[in-house]
Order: sequence, then structure tokens, then C-alpha cells
Amino acid sequence: MITLQKTPIIAALKKYADDRTIRFHMPGHKGGQIPHNEAISFLGSQAFFADVTNVPGMDDLHQPHGVIGEAQNLAALTFGADQTYFLINGSSCGLQALVMSACNPGDKILVPRNIHRSILSGIILSGAVPVFFLPEYDSDYGIPLGTSPEAIENCLQTHPDARAVLIVYPTYQGIASDLETIAKIVHQYDIPLLVDEAHGPHFGFHEDLPKTALEAGADASVHGTHKMLSSFTQASMLHIKGNRINRQRLEATLKILQSTSTSYLLLASLDGARAQMDNHGREFVQQALETSLFLRNELKKINGYQILGEELLGRAGVFNIDQTKINIGITNLQISGLWAEQWLRQNHHIQVEMADIFNLLLLVTAGNSQSDANSLLQGLKEMCNYIELHPEVTESYSTIKGINPFPYIPELAMSPREAFLGSPSSLSLGQALGHISAEVITCYPPGIPVICPGERFTPEIIQYLSVMKELGIHFQGCYDTSLETVLIIKE
Ligand SMILES: Cc1ncc(COP(=O)(O)O)c(C=O)c1O
Repeated sequence: MITLQKTPIIAALKKYADDRTIRFHMPGHKGGQIPHNEAISFLGSQAFFADVTNVPGMDDLHQPHGVIGEAQNLAALTFGADQTYFLINGSSCGLQALVMSACNPGDKILVPRNIHRSILSGIILSGAVPVFFLPEYDSDYGIPLGTSPEAIENCLQTHPDARAVLIVYPTYQGIASDLETIAKIVHQYDIPLLVDEAHGPHFGFHEDLPKTALEAGADASVHGTHKMLSSFTQASMLHIKGNRINRQRLEATLKILQSTSTSYLLLASLDGARAQMDNHGREFVQQALETSLFLRNELKKINGYQILGEELLGRAGVFNIDQTKINIGITNLQISGLWAEQWLRQNHHIQVEMADIFNLLLLVTAGNSQSDANSLLQGLKEMCNYIELHPEVTESYSTIKGINPFPYIPELAMSPREAFLGSPSSLSLGQALGHISAEVITCYPPGIPVICPGERFTPEIIQYLSVMKELGIHFQGCYDTSLETVLIIKE
């Protein structure tokens, strides 16, 4: 009989610890037995004690036949998958594996522009050719919304030879597309629907949340278990349903991408997070929803904050909303989200999940108490008062106001892989006009690639990047993150 309460990996670790096994094996800290290590003092020796490796009694992530296999099977049951794979290199590695197992060099994959950069890495690694389409967009908040079924239909009509479609569900801000309709459209072409569900691992546990990707008909989904559930950072899951995914190829790809020195701390945290949700999932999501609802209602009473919510339902690309994420638009206060993020951190020791020019984003889970919510409310109220008393902080606002937060898609002159492998040369941003980019440049936030390897620099791209640079936005993915120079392909 299957017992969902079981935590096989944690049980194996406990047994190894209880046996007081003498360790003539890796890792070198021997269960935290070497003195003068600040990490051991800070993290606690128990964490080091549990940091074992693939010794008998444990298992092999690359060929699971024992406790890892058992824990993965339990996770498949919990998350409604035919098969689940534990990921120790983040959701990134699951997304890369999906792209690499669906596409050979030159194969087309349909992807929205607001993909996480790990999907672009998968495209580079596989040699696939991305067919980008724009997600729907909200100009009030300056954020991408979901994908409409019509966008997928149109894209597939133009590219019926695509080998896969990959969708972000939900978006960072919690917006869920009509995945059920999208799945039906995609399956008419007999290709897989791959879903980046990094921000939705809690979906299956409460009726007020959107359907899980697999319930909606997806062939594969990647969960950021560490993002919304309680595994350690970097511990994620990949779920498969049906026969459209070549599992042999997928497993071979995971072997390429994942470390052979599997961290049992990460695996144990996945085992624990899964069992916790089996036993208390609905209750925890209910708590998160209640905290979020309280915050949403209170924040609406404060002049200046705009709370993204159900009024967006029914818009193209907005089928449902995960209310545990709270996106606060703050343009009415005439300050940037980046300024607000810093102010809250410095004055109230509150750290938001993400800030961009127009918004603050909060993630609420059962780990947030009522006292957290009260502190946040107090901080946000005081911030409004502070701005009123110090109008000089709004002086730079006019610069921020005119920004197009989402540039259009530039021409793809060569595949991202060809560009990545091409001969790069470094130029100043201004000189890059007309050249093909050798790298991806992503502004963080909002984490959307502005230019990808293989795309040509246009005046609009250069202008956008220059403005972001002036605003002090962080750049990621590129070699020179100060953006004094960019890498282009020598033609
Ligand atoms: C939508 C989305 N997908 C994938 C990832 C990658 O996840 P990980 O950091 O677990 O590799 C992220 C990370 O923030 C993300 O936001």
C-alpha cells in the first residue's frame, strides 16, 4: 500500500545518522566533524550530518532504484503526474531538459517573449530555433500577462512545423492563461505542450487556485518547489503526463544537466515539501489566501496603491489569477518600485519578492504570519506619508514615466546557438546598431530578454537599454553587466 505520509529519503538519512556510521567517504567535512568552520557553526552540525552522498542505503538520482525512486513516485501521485523527476539544479535545469528533449538543431519551438532565461539556455544548448510571440500586456502595470489561445493558434498556423510549444503558467505576477484551450490547440498538431509552472507548484491544493498545468492537459510541467512550497532553494520537480514526451531522451538529458554529486539536503527538502503538502496542502494554501485577501483589502484603502486583481479577468491572456501573489502598482505615488523596495528594506526591514519600475511584487505563503502582514501594511502606509513629506523623492519620476517597459521582438538573423558559438566582439552599446547580438541581455527586473543571441540591435533596443542603464536596473545574461559594452557577432 502506498503511504503518502512516508518520506523515504528523510527516513534513509535518519537511519544513516542513527547508525553512527564511520565516514571514510565524501564529503570531506565527514558530517561536520572538522572544527573551525563558520558555516558549520552558523548552519548547525545537523545539516552537515545529513549531507551524505550516494552510499548504500541512499540512491542514485540518475538511476533511481531505492529511496529517490520511491520519493519521486510519491511526488508523481501528489502532483498528478505519470512520472516525476527531482531536480537539484533548479527549475532551470528541468526547462532546459524539456527543450533539449523536444528539439533537435533547427527545430522550431514556440515560446512567449517573457520566458525565463533558462529556457533560452535550453534553446542554445539544443540548437532549436525560437519562434517568439508577444504575451498579452497591461500598460497600466507595465507587465506581461498570459498567452491567449488565439496567439497560439495563429502562431501554429504560420509555423505548423513547430516541434513543441512552451508556455509560462502562471506568470511571475500570478496570471494564468486558458491552458485547457491552449492544450487542445497544441495537441491538434500532435506536438507537446511544455509548461513553465515554476510559480505554481501549489495549484493542485485549493479550488480557488487555477488548475494545475497537467490537469489542464499539458504534457510536462516544471515546478519551482522552492519558490512557493518549502523545499530548499534549487530543489524543483519535473512532471510528465502522457506519451508525447520522449522519456528516454529526457532522462538522458537530465543526466547531462544534473550533478552526479547529488545533495541529499536538497532531495530531503523535496521529500519533506511533498509530504507536507499531502498532509496540509489545502490548509496551507487557505492560510496564504486569507493573508493575501486581508492585505489586498487593506492596501486598496491606502491612496496611491493599485492592486492587480480580478478586474483583469476576461482580458486576453487572463483566464485566472493566483491571488497568493500581490502585484502592487505604485506609479500614482510618482516613485519607482526600485526606490520603494529600498525604502522598505532600509526603514522597515521588509524585503519584497521583486520590484520593477512600476511595481512591487509580494509572494504570500503559509509561512507569512498576520504579524508579517501588519508590518508590511504599516511600512507601506508610512512610505506614503514619507513621500508626501519629502516631495523631492518624486523628482526623477518624469524620466520613469515615459518608458516602454516591453520592447518589441527584433529580427532573428541566426539561431541563438549559432550566435552563441560565433566569433564575438565587444562594442559600446551605441555602436552596436545593426549588429547581431552574441548574448542575451535581460533587465532584472522584469526578467524579460530585451535581446537574444542571434537578434539584431535596433535603435529602439539601444534606446531602451540606455534608459534602463540610467535608471540603475540590473542586467543579467550579458558579459559586461554594466552594459558599457555588448557582445556582437563579427560578420
Ligand atoms: C518563470 C520562471 N521559470 C523558471 C525559473 C528558474 O527557476 P530556478 O531558479 O529554480 O532555476 C524562474 C526563476 O526565477 C522563473 O521565474
